[in-house]
Amino acid sequence: MRPVTTNGATARTASAMPGAGVSAADRNAPALDTHAVCPVLRAEGVTKIYRRGVWPRRRELQVLRGANLELCAGEVVGLVGENGSGKSTLMKILVGALDADGGSISAVDRVGYCPQEPLLYDRLTCDEHLELFGVAYEMDPDAVAAASEALYASLGFARWRAVRVEELSGGTRAKLNLALALLSDPDVLLLDEPYAGFDWDTYLRFWELTAERRAAGRSVLVVSHFVTDNERFDRLVELRDGKTVSR
Ligand SMILES: Nc1ncnc2c1ncn2[C@@H]1O[C@H](COP(=O)(O)OP(=O)(O)OP(=O)(O)O)[C@@H](O)[C@H]1O
Ligand SMILES: [Mg+2]
Repeated sequence: MRPVTTNGATARTASAMPGAGVSAADRNAPALDTHAVCPVLRAEGVTKIYRRGVWPRRRELQVLRGANLELCAGEVVGLVGENGSGKSTLMKILVGALDADGGSISAVDRVGYCPQEPLLYDRLTCDEHLELFGVAYEMDPDAVAAASEALYASLGFARWRAVRVEELSGGTRAKLNLALALLSDPDVLLLDEPYAGFDWDTYLRFWELTAERRAAGRSVLVVSHFVTDNERFDRLVELRDGKTVSR
């Protein structure tokens, strides 16, 4: 594994594509060895301060104070913590969508990301989103078509494929958000409260998909608030006072 320093000066914003999988190389970060079993993602000593306003009303909020996290191949890890503890901030930093102030991030080449708020294009249909993201992932059109069919079937939203996002329900938007993160079958998947708004069947299907990924040696980090989910994770990492604590 090659350590990578990411800080406000060197880390680049991940991708203009909302929810797009991001390669570590896009972030000036050498990729970890994809064949290495552990870790496939590593964050060390990550710090983040949000700064708002201008002097004399300048305010600073230190959200992360040296967060560490490691994800191994075939692991499904829960990222927990109270509202505002910095879970989404850490995920954005891990995927390169937000600059850290300090610390280092290393990752295998392909990291998929499902943001907490679906970032979709109102005027595009589900099909158009999948096609667009397939191009962004540099996938073969046949592979995009096959993966899209499988995702429509497993998440149960094929009937909405030709409908524009602006006309979709919140739950269907969440399904599309997740489908876009899964499309390229990334080695590492970062999911920020992915099933908010899912109906029960889709929620159960989500966990089946996650178990399939674990069995295939993929890694998944999931932000969750549900204590009932805890038994589904291989382990839990809690963000508390800006630091990560194993639970
Ligand atoms: N762009 C921003 N500018 C300033 N403060 C921010 C910004 N984004 C988040 N924050 C603040 O940083 C803290 C952590 O936010 P974050 O969204 O990472 O928390 P979270 O653990 O994901 O919370 P939740 O469980 O509610 O999703 C919060 O106090 C939030 O208000
Ligand atoms: Mg959040």
